[in-house]
Amino acid sequence: LRSRQPIVAIDGPAGAGKSTVARLVADRLGLMYLDTGAMYRAVTWHVLTQEIDPADEVAVAEALANCQIRLATEPATAPGEPGLTRVWVNEAEITQAIRTAEVTAQVSTIAAQPTVRKVLLKQQQEYGTQGGVVMEGRDIGTHVFPAAELKVFLTASVEERARRRQRDLLAQNQPPVSIEALEEAIDERDRKDSTRRVAPLQKAEDAIELLTDGLSIEEVVERIVALFEDRLHRN
Ligand code: DC
Repeated sequence: LRSRQPIVAIDGPAGAGKSTVARLVADRLGLMYLDTGAMYRAVTWHVLTQEIDPADEVAVAEALANCQIRLATEPATAPGEPGLTRVWVNEAEITQAIRTAEVTAQVSTIAAQPTVRKVLLKQQQEYGTQGGVVMEGRDIGTHVFPAAELKVFLTASVEERARRRQRDLLAQNQPPVSIEALEEAIDERDRKDSTRRVAPLQKAEDAIELLTDGLSIEEVVERIVALFEDRLHRN
């Protein structure tokens, strides 16, 4: 007898398309969606706003004590158009503010700190206590929910990810950035995320790796939905 609803863990490097895919998968399967990267970004925003040095682990740990993060994902606006995740820290809505270049540049430094990871891990596990969620991040299949019913490791080449990031920035009315600069930033963030001591970005042994170069979003979503249905029927 299953004591909770199923959990789908979607991990992978920056820009592999996790967010869009995970939201659409959640819609298709009627599950909740949790963007754990948004939580690391929210802490980063909070730290920067308090004018704390992101590398000062003691000060960051202190700042965490009064950093109440809230996330709410709106329902899909149309088929294939996933709803926006709105993010608050304490009373401030920071949905847009967590996507700036400043936050993106510092988030790996924050996400590497054991205290930060410990606090957010606990919140993520609480969110998934009842299951019924598609959780997206870097360490969901390895640390947050090692017993997830389905684990997908989503990847794409650096070139493909840089092109997608450029399109996203354009769509979000952010200032334009060259492909070269984006590739460099993606490489740098991959390196930081995969080499940190605590919970590095790593494919879980039992995760299914999906290379998304040349696949449309719909194709990736279809594959994950099929994998999920296959898993559930076998259990
Ligand atoms: O998915 P994203 O780009 O919004 O994630 C922001 C950063 O947070 C990313 O550099 C890695 C980190 N992160 C993490 O360490 N663990 C997670 N579960 C999710 C994100």
